[in-house]
Amino acid sequence: MAKFLVQKSGPLNGEVVISGAKNAVLPLMASALLAEEKCVLRDVPALRDVEVITEILRSLGSEVTQLEESVIEIHTPQIKSNEADYDLVSKMRASFLVMGPLLARTGRAKVHAPGGCTIGARPIDLHLKGFATLGAEIIVKDNYIEAIAPEGGLVGASVYLDFPSVGATENIMSAAVLAKGTTYIENAAKEPEIVDQANFLNKMGARIKGAGTDTIKIEGVERLHGTEHTVIPDRIETGTFMLAAAITHGQILIKNVVPDHVKPITAKLRESGVRVEMTDEGMYVIADENPNLVATDIKTLPYPGFPTDIQSPFMAYLTTVNGASTVIETVFENRFMHVAELNRMGANIKTDGDNHALIQGAKQLEGAQVIATDLRAGAALVLAGLVAEGTTEISEIYHIERGYEKFIEKFKGLGATIFKIED
Ligand code: UD1
Repeated sequence: MAKFLVQKSGPLNGEVVISGAKNAVLPLMASALLAEEKCVLRDVPALRDVEVITEILRSLGSEVTQLEESVIEIHTPQIKSNEADYDLVSKMRASFLVMGPLLARTGRAKVHAPGGCTIGARPIDLHLKGFATLGAEIIVKDNYIEAIAPEGGLVGASVYLDFPSVGATENIMSAAVLAKGTTYIENAAKEPEIVDQANFLNKMGARIKGAGTDTIKIEGVERLHGTEHTVIPDRIETGTFMLAAAITHGQILIKNVVPDHVKPITAKLRESGVRVEMTDEGMYVIADENPNLVATDIKTLPYPGFPTDIQSPFMAYLTTVNGASTVIETVFENRFMHVAELNRMGANIKTDGDNHALIQGAKQLEGAQVIATDLRAGAALVLAGLVAEGTTEISEIYHIERGYEKFIEKFKGLGATIFKIED
């Protein structure tokens, strides 16, 4: 199995260009199933997760062609199968996002249950409640979930989400675009990826209003057509490089950033003493001027609150600054797997079993053998490794490669000493 070796690297300096967002491109690719015509997506990151959804689309009948670097074309003149198999779905939870488009276009979808994962149970009850409210019959059997639209297709309705789930909002929105009548998604997720998906669907001929607010209104249309679209920049990758500047007391110019999308991260870094400046060139994160970076508390929340995906990288940073901080995770029930790994590197983090962590900062971390328990936990360990004495050996890095494009290349470009080795 491949590993990353990370060495203490000194301040990271230079420029980095952010890739298209993983969490936007997956629902966009699934949504392309809704049209018979060709859809072209630009700024598509080269990631394992993108390869997985490409395989799923191909298994359903799409032709997916790489037109040039970061540009793909998806053409689905006909859906050949409306079943997504275990082999593919089990590789990535977001595979479930093909359910809404398949159901809308063919009236039937059968997808293997995505199951749990290391960061929590992650049920899909809200997705299914949405499909059922639009009139679908839901059959759960042998770990497969089948949704069957009524004669004449799905019918618009009001769907209230008990929690603003990102995936449920995306899946229900794509199911509703071809429904008869109007659908309202109440207490919808407001993440930028939802707005990107709505913009893409509207370019395909959908009639969606209110994406990015609590209530999304979708007026059903007869059919969608092909279009072209550029994926939004990855706000989690942006946050990771903001933290790379902060934790190493460096200075990084981050290009291809939407500042509004990273507001909570900017606010918390500023509270901690880091300078963040937006210019025409991009975002400067300046942490080499203030030797006394200090503790700050964070609590994860749905957007526009502090993103759960940046919680673990931020915690790695908090272990190094002066003072004590608390981190509260409210989005997932089991997202502190990195705590044990950071403590193995000499951090002083205590958890109370109720998703609260208390971090005593100003620790000199030490290189150790650690495990990337999930994608973002992996990024947290790389950040910690950059300031730890000696060498940090990170295993199970396939998690990191699922979601960060050119990860090593980008870090090396900023002066990090990081290698990939095959064990
Ligand atoms: C997406 C992101 C992930 C991010 C998360 C929260 C993608 C591919 N992944 O995941 O990186 O961490 O949003 O910002 O975009 N829930 C239910 N029932 C449901 C659905 C969700 O109870 O039917 C719960 C989950 O267990 C979790 C919470 O809602 O506790 C948030 O999940 P959700 O917003 O759906 O996250 P994902 O779409 O899976």
